[in-house]
Amino acid sequence: MSLIDDVEKVLISEAEIQERIANLAAEMNALYSDADRPMLICILKGAFMFLADLTRHLTFRHELDFMEISSYGRGTTSSGAVRILLDLATDVQGRHVIIVEDIVDTGNTLTYILRNFAARKPASIRVATLLSKPSRRQIEVPVDFVGFEVPDEFVIGYGLDFAEQYRNLPFIGVLKPEVYRQS
Ligand code: PRP
Repeated sequence: MSLIDDVEKVLISEAEIQERIANLAAEMNALYSDADRPMLICILKGAFMFLADLTRHLTFRHELDFMEISSYGRGTTSSGAVRILLDLATDVQGRHVIIVEDIVDTGNTLTYILRNFAARKPASIRVATLLSKPSRRQIEVPVDFVGFEVPDEFVIGYGLDFAEQYRNLPFIGVLKPEVYRQS
């Protein structure tokens, strides 16, 4: 069986994602046109594809860095335990920071990230997430740029995985429940 056979439906198409990212980038271009080389921080692994498409639309000078955070393990729900697996290479003190996430679900990961970044004393910090699942929020967390709000379904693709699979799909899809039930 191929990867695509595990997809129940396409929730957000490739074209819809690309159009929305262009719009988010236009908002950022207006906000950061005069800022001194803001840093986009990609939260690995899920945000790698969003970051790659977003950065190509940005017209202001900026830099990229990467941080790997894990909270889910192989399960389908957040364990609440957040760990830094890979830290930044750059000192962000005094820099304008944009955190780039693939999804904000319970809000636990982003809350941890924002607390962690506060200690690094950036000049400013904003958050961009491709997806948000507001119905799952356990903790209120500020998000400045949201691509799409999604319902409480198991979404995969465009960077988002289940058991490290499906990240390469160019769209956001819903996984067939039998796939995660049987594992
Ligand atoms: C996902 C996602 C967010 C977090 C959101 O990461 O990338 O960082 O979960 O969930 P929360 O709002 O409930 O905390 P995951 O731990 O699955 O790692 P990955 O990006 O490497 O797949």
